[in-house]
Amino acid sequence: MDEHQTWTKETWGPVPDTWQRKHLLGLEGLTAEEIVTLLDQADRFRQEILGRQESGRKIPLLAGRAVVNLFFENSTRTRTSFSLAARRLGMDVVEFSAATSSLSKGETLLDTARNIQAMGVDAFIIRHSCPGAPHLLSKELTGCSVVNAGDGTHEHPTQALLDMLTIRQKLGSLKGLTVALVGDIAHSRTARSNIWGLKALGAHVIVCGPSTLVSPHWNEIGVEYSWSLDDILPRVDVFNLLRIQFERQVVRPFPSIREYAHLYAMDKARLARCKKDVLIIAPGPINRGVEVTPEVADGPQSAILDQVTNGVAVRMAALWMCMNR
Ligand code: CP
Repeated sequence: MDEHQTWTKETWGPVPDTWQRKHLLGLEGLTAEEIVTLLDQADRFRQEILGRQESGRKIPLLAGRAVVNLFFENSTRTRTSFSLAARRLGMDVVEFSAATSSLSKGETLLDTARNIQAMGVDAFIIRHSCPGAPHLLSKELTGCSVVNAGDGTHEHPTQALLDMLTIRQKLGSLKGLTVALVGDIAHSRTARSNIWGLKALGAHVIVCGPSTLVSPHWNEIGVEYSWSLDDILPRVDVFNLLRIQFERQVVRPFPSIREYAHLYAMDKARLARCKKDVLIIAPGPINRGVEVTPEVADGPQSAILDQVTNGVAVRMAALWMCMNR
């Protein structure tokens, strides 16, 4: 379609029959077909948005519908890109701030959500520190779609989808690739969603980090584990470098950040021992010098900002597909 033409529901076409869900709560249990459908639609949105300028960047398939960004934890990428995604679909967006809401007066999450729904909101995007908070809303708020923007240490499905979309764009199919998730696996919702999604699409997954943060039990569901980054460097196609989530840790899992970086930071010397076309990704926020050094984060193997661009397209696909079921 040319740059000035406007998409309508009719010209864009229906949600594929391979997607029947009203909510996106996690990647656990999604079939390969469902994930590929999401990625294909996200790819379509990405190409349309990137190929257009200024006001042409709207694809108003959800005009007249309203969504609330219900964030109980801080966010830069997820919140902003959900907001942009919804606006590009023509939606009204309500930015809810927990800090200035009536939660401080004792109102519950459910009462808060029910009151927002009563104002005519059609979809809830929720980030919450409690695993299962999006699932609760999906059960209680009939008629609304719920999209999980990160629930505690449980899942962050749109992050894993944008990670997989980026890998697919850069390396083609995910089938047969070896993808290493490095860092704080124990506290990472991004790691969990990546594990379910990557396994469904046929990738071999390695979780890597200190033994206090990487359990051997991952083996039981077909995920390899390694406590040594240096050991796995030469055989990995994609490194997904995760942040150490100090805010979720009850006890300190290693003596110092310096020691962690010495053993697990992806730096120039380690990159030199990787495959020559290795892909470096990271969900962000990145802590430069801890999980990745600046020359690697900003270097030619890094697709960290491509991931962020893809995040808008993935979230457009998630909203459009869930809200049309
Ligand atoms: N990757 C991610 O979820 O980033 P934010 O916390 O900034 O949203």
